[in-house]
Amino acid sequence: MEAFRAEILAVPDDPRSGAPIVHHADGLLVVENGIVVAVGDHADLAGRFAEAGVTHFPGKTIVPGFVDAHVHYPQTERIAAHGAQLLDWLDRHIFPAETAFADRDHADAIAGFFLDELLRNGTTSALVYATVHPESVDALFEAALTRDMRIVSGKVLMDQGAPDGLRDTVETGRADSEALIAKWRGRGRLRYAVTPRFALTSTDAQLVSAGEMVAAHPDVLMHTHLAENLGEVAAVAARFTTAKDYLDAYDRFGLVGDRSVFAHCIQMDDDAFARMVAKGAHAAFCPTSNLFLGSGLFDLEKACAHGVGVGIGTDIGAGTSFSLLHTLGEAYKVCQMRGVSLDPFRALHLATVGGARALGIADRVGALKVGQEADFAVLDPCATPLLARRTAGADLHDRLFALQILGDDRAVAFTYLAGKLAHQRDRI
Ligand code: GUN
Ligand code: ZN
Repeated sequence: MEAFRAEILAVPDDPRSGAPIVHHADGLLVVENGIVVAVGDHADLAGRFAEAGVTHFPGKTIVPGFVDAHVHYPQTERIAAHGAQLLDWLDRHIFPAETAFADRDHADAIAGFFLDELLRNGTTSALVYATVHPESVDALFEAALTRDMRIVSGKVLMDQGAPDGLRDTVETGRADSEALIAKWRGRGRLRYAVTPRFALTSTDAQLVSAGEMVAAHPDVLMHTHLAENLGEVAAVAARFTTAKDYLDAYDRFGLVGDRSVFAHCIQMDDDAFARMVAKGAHAAFCPTSNLFLGSGLFDLEKACAHGVGVGIGTDIGAGTSFSLLHTLGEAYKVCQMRGVSLDPFRALHLATVGGARALGIADRVGALKVGQEADFAVLDPCATPLLARRTAGADLHDRLFALQILGDDRAVAFTYLAGKLAHQRDRI
C-alpha cells in the first residue's frame, strides 16, 4: 500500500448540475495494487493508513490523469504542417506520413515516442487512430501494454480516396480488424475501436462491414470523424444524396450508437445533435485542431444543451499540442468566440470524466474515486516563473484557470499509471 499527499482535485460530475467538486487542500490518496482505496483529507486518513509509505508533493496538485478523446499517433511527426485546410492537408502532409507505417520498426519508434509524450503531458488514457496497416496497431498496443496504459485504438478502414500503400479492401479491412480484435481482446488495459477514417474514404460496402463489426463485438468502440470542414461536408452531401445529413450517412450503416465517438461535430444543426443524443453517441471537441485547420468553432453549449457527451481531443497532428491543459485553454477561447465562458472546473471535468465516458471507461478512471485505477497527474502551479507569479495567492478556481491558459507539459511534474511512477519532469 502507498499513499500520495498533496492538494487533490477531481470533478466527477458536471459542475453545472450543482454537484460538488472533490477538493482536499491537504489531501491523501491511498493506493493498493494500482487501485484507489481511499481519498480524503490527510488529517482524517493519515492515522488509518499509518503503515502506507507516503510520497509528499508540497505545493502541487493531484488531478485525475487526462483522457485524450481523439488523437492520431502516426501524425506525431507531421504536427505543425503549414498551409492547408483539411482535405488538402490530408493529401499533402498526412497521407505521405502515414504510408511510412507499413514499416514496423518505424511504427514501433513513433508509438513509443507518442505514448511517452502523452505521459509527459499527464495524459493516461487515449482514443487513438493508428493507420490502415494492422502492424501499426500492434506497435501501439505493444508499447501501451509495456507501459500499462489505457489505450483504445484500431486499424483505420480506408478502401478509397487515399494513395497506393494506404488503402485496404472490404475483405482485408474486415479480416485484419477481426484478427486484431481477437488478438488484443482482454489484454492489459487495451480496447479496440472499429475506425473508418471518415465517410469519404470508405465505400458503402466497407461502411456496411464496419457496422457489422460494431454490432458483432459489444466490447469495441466505433471511432471516426464527423462534420469537421465545409468542403468535406459538401463532398459527403454530394455522395450520400439520400442521407439527411453527415450523421445520417453514418447512421444508415449502424455506426451511430452509445459506443460511437465522433471527432469534431462542428457543422451540426440541432436536429443532428438531438439524434446523437438519442443514440447515446459522444463528441470529441478538438479546439487546437479546429483552429489550426480553420475548420470552425465547436458549439459546446449547443452540444451540451442537447445532452451530448463531450470529451476533449488533442487531434495531433492537426492539433498543435499534446497538452490537455493547453487544449483546455484553447477550448476556453473557442467558447469565448461563441460568447460563453468555459468554467475551469467544467473544463477539467470534460478532459477527465467527459473523455472517460466517451471511451466507455468512466467506471475505471477519470475521477480518482475509491475502486478506480490510480492514474493521475501531479500538477505544478509554479512550473514557470510566470505561472509562479500569476498563481501566488490565487484561489483554486483562479489557479486552475491559469494552469489551463498558461500550462503545458512543463506544468506536469509527475504522471502515475495504476499508482506507479510513469513520468517525472526533468527539473522539479
Ligand atoms: N478527417 C479524416 N482524416 C482526418 C485526419 O487525419 N485528421 C483530421 N483532423 N480530420 C480527418
Ligand atoms: Zn482526427
